[in-house]
Amino acid sequence: MEHKTIGFALCGSFCTHSRAMAALEQIAARYEHVIPIVSEIVAATDTRFGAAHDLMHELERICDRRVITNVVDAEPIGPRKLLDLLVIAPCTGNTLSKMAAGITDSSVTMAAKAHQRNGRPVVVCMASNDGLAGSAPAIGQLLMRKNIFFVPFGQDDPVGKPTSLVADFTQLPQTIEAAFQGRQLQPLLL
Ligand SMILES: Cc1cc2nc3c(=O)[nH]c(=O)nc-3n(C[C@H](O)[C@H](O)[C@H](O)COP(=O)(O)O)c2cc1C
Repeated sequence: MEHKTIGFALCGSFCTHSRAMAALEQIAARYEHVIPIVSEIVAATDTRFGAAHDLMHELERICDRRVITNVVDAEPIGPRKLLDLLVIAPCTGNTLSKMAAGITDSSVTMAAKAHQRNGRPVVVCMASNDGLAGSAPAIGQLLMRKNIFFVPFGQDDPVGKPTSLVADFTQLPQTIEAAFQGRQLQPLLL
């Protein structure tokens, strides 16, 4: 068990939540503290992929603490230096674009901004249908930012969804390890 505190934030790519939760189980087994965070839409939305209440319950069970669901509860991450590293998995095109534009109007973007002021690593595990379209500029900008690392990603369905990009969630633990060493896990493109 490593004596580190990881923030684990989920955005509204509902179809990848099961992959994120599998990765979270591994991370919780390895690091002493994991603080769960969800975007407001995740906290409030039931979809065909599951009910919000069940997801929150599962997060609290795995992490053994209350889930951060709003800007007010995410803000102390900065001044209190609560996290050694922040994971955003899944990270939507919406949250990617807000981070690139400096917009901080959700629990997850607030967590990212608060954490980044401490100069500590953020690991982005993206899932976006418009990664090679509307979100592409944001991905490019975040690739150039200090302390932001990406879980290796690729096209999940080049014919059916030609602009979709999804990270390989199974590489999240290795990406975190590399990020702690200040290194982007390679190859970045799958
Ligand atoms: C069923 C469902 C699946 C979605 N899947 C994705 C997805 O895989 N990637 C994505 O970027 N947005 C997806 N969205 C859209 C986001 O949920 C939406 O942009 C939302 O505003 C994201 O908010 P957040 O980034 O604060 O979590 C999905 C929405 C729904 C209802």
